[in-house]
Amino acid sequence: MEIIKTVTIDYRHYLSNTEIAAIEHEASIMETREAAGIEALKVVQEHRGWVSDDSLYAIADMLTMNVAELEGVATFYNLIYRQPVGQKVIHICDSVSCHLTGYNQVLGAIKTHLNIEYGQTTSDNKFTLLSNVCLGGCDKSPVMMVGKEHYYHLTPTSVVEILTELAEQEANTQEAIDE
Ligand code: FES
Repeated sequence: MEIIKTVTIDYRHYLSNTEIAAIEHEASIMETREAAGIEALKVVQEHRGWVSDDSLYAIADMLTMNVAELEGVATFYNLIYRQPVGQKVIHICDSVSCHLTGYNQVLGAIKTHLNIEYGQTTSDNKFTLLSNVCLGGCDKSPVMMVGKEHYYHLTPTSVVEILTELAEQEANTQEAIDE
């Protein structure tokens, strides 16, 4: 007999007031509370960087949703991270057009430059590398997305320049926060 583990987390003790307010707003403009699931996942990810199991249970509690159903939504939407990620997540397109225009060379340059494989995060926690299906820029391939930004016509040289620049930006942002 299958044993179903039931975990509940009272969202009021887990989510911040800011998260609760943002999720409540999303729920208020949807037809049902369940329909706000994906937006709620995005809210929590924006505040915490990723969506842990506990976050998932808390969101399900708040939206009176089935946890398995919410997990399904999180799994389907590949921009929801269910494991800790670095400060910046690189999504490199591994679909056909990008494959035909240099994906392998670009990917090789990223891996060598950052010394990581797919699914890994750099030791300084700056970058996580993930693959992605078509990013919608096939006529400008190869393409990657970092945060909300898309980068087109990548070459092994340009991708390293972009990553170097992003790392510098991140370091400057961190310095400004620390001051
Ligand atoms: S195949 Fe890479 S962006 Fe479409």
